Amino acid sequence: MADQSVLVVPSVLPADYSRLGEEVKALEDAGVDRIQWDVMDGHFVPNLTFGPDIIGACRDHASVPFEAHLMVSDPDAMMSQYVDAGCEWVIVHAEAPIHLHRSLELVNKAGGKAAVALNPATPASAVAHVLDLVDMVLVMTVNPGFGGQDYLSSMEPKVTEVRDMIERSGRDIDLEVDGGVGPKNAAAVVAAGARVLVAGSALYKHEGGLEAAVDAIRSAGEQALADDA
Ligand code: DX5
Repeated sequence: MADQSVLVVPSVLPADYSRLGEEVKALEDAGVDRIQWDVMDGHFVPNLTFGPDIIGACRDHASVPFEAHLMVSDPDAMMSQYVDAGCEWVIVHAEAPIHLHRSLELVNKAGGKAAVALNPATPASAVAHVLDLVDMVLVMTVNPGFGGQDYLSSMEPKVTEVRDMIERSGRDIDLEVDGGVGPKNAAAVVAAGARVLVAGSALYKHEGGLEAAVDAIRSAGEQALADDA
C-alpha cells in the first residue's frame, strides 16, 4: 500500500518526570502523532518506569493517542489497566508471555488496539501466526530498557521482512520502529518499510527543540517515500 505519511511517536522516557503533564502537552504542541509510554518492570528489562496511574494522570493533558509499550514479563497481569488509563494501543513483546496469542486476544477484549514487538534477536517469523490479532508490529532497533542507545541498522532486513509479511496478509497493520531513531536514519527506517517512527533522545537532544526535531524526522522519512515513488 503506497502510504505517503510517516508518523512520529515520541517516547516519554527522556522527559522531565516532575512535569509529565506539561511534557505531554509540549509533545502534542510539537506536532507528534501519538505518544508512547515505555512501561518497564525491572524484570523483562533492567529498568523501572511508568504504571497505569501515572499514564492516566497525563491522559487529559493531550488529545493525541497514547501507546503503552509493555516491556514487562507478565503483560496479561495489568493489561486492561493501561487501556483504562487511556492507552489506545497496547504493545506486547513476543518474548514475554507464555501464550502470546492469548495475550493479544486479551488486549482486543479489553478494548485496546493490539500490537506485538520484536526484540533484536527475535525473528520476524515469531509474529507469523498472530497478524490477524494485531493492528501494529513494532521492530526494536535497540535492546530494550534504555533510551539513547545506538540504532541497530542490522534490523533493517527484518523490518522489510515484516513489511512483506504484512503486505501478504492483506491486513491494514502499522509497522513501527523504536530505538535510536532520529533525523539521520529516518530515511533508512522508512526505506526498509516502517511508517511509524518512535524517537526519544533524538527529540529531546535536538538543538532546535521538539517541534524542529519532529519536523526533521517526519520530513526525512517522507522524502524517502517520495524518492521511492
Ligand atoms: C528502549 C526504549 C527506547 C525509547 C526510544 O527500551 O523503547 O527505544 O523508546 O529511545 P531512543 O529514541 O533514545 O532510543
